Amino acid sequence: MVRMGVSLAAISARSVRACAVLALLTLTACGSDAPQSWLTPKGPNAQAVLDLFWPITYAAIVVFVVVQGLIIYTVMKYRERPGGPEAQQFHGNFTVELTSTIITALVFIVVLAATVSTQRVLSAPLESPPADAITVKVIGHQWWWEFQYPDDDIVTASDLVVPTGTTVLLNITSADVIHSFWVPMLAGKIDAIPGRMNRMWIKADADGTYSAQCAEFCGIEHAMMRFQVRAVGPNEYKEWVVRQKTVPPTPVAPSGADASLILQAKGAQLFVGGSCKTCHAIKGTEAVGVVGPNLTHFGSRETIAAKTLTSTVPNLKTWLRNPQAVKPGTIMPNLNLKEDEIEALTAYLCRPIDPTLNTGCQVAPANTVKK
Ligand code: CUA
Repeated sequence: MVRMGVSLAAISARSVRACAVLALLTLTACGSDAPQSWLTPKGPNAQAVLDLFWPITYAAIVVFVVVQGLIIYTVMKYRERPGGPEAQQFHGNFTVELTSTIITALVFIVVLAATVSTQRVLSAPLESPPADAITVKVIGHQWWWEFQYPDDDIVTASDLVVPTGTTVLLNITSADVIHSFWVPMLAGKIDAIPGRMNRMWIKADADGTYSAQCAEFCGIEHAMMRFQVRAVGPNEYKEWVVRQKTVPPTPVAPSGADASLILQAKGAQLFVGGSCKTCHAIKGTEAVGVVGPNLTHFGSRETIAAKTLTSTVPNLKTWLRNPQAVKPGTIMPNLNLKEDEIEALTAYLCRPIDPTLNTGCQVAPANTVKK
């Protein structure tokens, strides 16, 4: 009995320590510099969810304090004392039981009503979309996100570009296993399920880049199945659409062309002549693979390999040298490319398609979410 008492005390001391560590971790997770915090919503969808979360949380805190307070009060007041009277046996108190049942039922009814009301807010744009809404089809793949804009015939990956202040209707599915689409600052999670189309919507209140990721374990690189929503002003969005719709000219180098054009042309030949086209597509070329991301206008994106790397020329070279070293388990194998082939492919993929704009594969450093 004594030994058992000691071990119970040890266990409870350990539990207290574990709880303290957990509380500390939870608190540190609520830092102000948290680009994926749903506690700082940046759009009406996420805001509606938070507006439901806080009242329920406060109600839960009140219930917790009242119930725990009553338990502690009762335990202290009526605990056994030396020489105290024998405990009275009784079989319940009808008034107390009825009152507590009614209070509990009322709390649940209020929470249910608030939840249903929030669900109506969340489903309204799906049932009657605003006239200016745009539609994007989202396809989860192991381990990257594909974004198709059916109205504009655009296919991209990892960077979901949307107009600020506009409702974006999302039709979400998966090409392989179940994933979960989650942009914490813009909306709650929704599963991407093979063979099924789930619908949701997002709307960004302000320009910015909203960090996002797959929120359901989907295999070895689940944690590196990230993406971002880039909300830009309506005019910038229109320009983006026009640029993405263009068929990028394939570089060809006539005799006497300068060295950079020769390199780009060599890269283009390698891309369609080698194994790249088995998995990737580029509009205007023979490459029509659908296993990996569509790489048309690849240079305009800010991230590589589902946001594992930022899109820069050195990072693309690192990726091409050995994708498995950057993202172990990724479907893209190490192609054992030679250094001059990597140079050529990088020159081709990152070439400036519109010379009036930035060169490709350059992350705009200021393009982060404004708090
Ligand atoms: Cu896809 Cu986790």
